[in-house]
Amino acid sequence: MAFTLPALPYAPEALEPHIDKQTMEIHHGKHHQAYVDNLNKAIAGTEHENKSLEELVKNAGSISPAVRNNGGGHWNHSFFWELLSANGGQPSGKLAEAINSAFGSLEALQEKVSTAGATRFGSGWAWVIVKDGKLEVSSTPNQDNPLMDVAEVKGTPILGIDVWEHAYYLKYQNKRPDYLKAIWNVINWSKVAEHYEAAL
Ligand SMILES: [Fe+2]
Repeated sequence: MAFTLPALPYAPEALEPHIDKQTMEIHHGKHHQAYVDNLNKAIAGTEHENKSLEELVKNAGSISPAVRNNGGGHWNHSFFWELLSANGGQPSGKLAEAINSAFGSLEALQEKVSTAGATRFGSGWAWVIVKDGKLEVSSTPNQDNPLMDVAEVKGTPILGIDVWEHAYYLKYQNKRPDYLKAIWNVINWSKVAEHYEAAL
């Protein structure tokens, strides 16, 4: 069964002024769509055609570069859209406790993730993962993610931030750190908490 582009869970202008409407429309409708289309092309007529996206991603390094890049692109963006919200709130409960115990404070976690994103050379992603029951911050190049067999730091992602230029260039141009500062205004912490509880 072919993969399809999931709908955005909000209107493309919902995250303004932090992420602008045009960026969301192009990012979702063009970039993510292209990952879906190219993933479908890469697996058509192969033994991988009926595998789940998770299964493809976990074995991405041993399947093909096209599956690694486009399967990763599809997984990462599907995960990312759900992590954003105009009314994201703050971490609470078990997640807040885990953040405080691993990093000291939410601000310290945000700084660590923003630094991981800002220092990722070229294109990639910054992550908060659960690894051996604990929270860690990591980053990956291109469309890799921490679920992949090829990831330098493996774990279960609970938060991922796209640091490709296509995620911010129209509004922030070359100022990736400004985008990484703004995005904390639209993180959907209840979704992060859901991923955290599922990962434990
Ligand atoms: Fe992206």
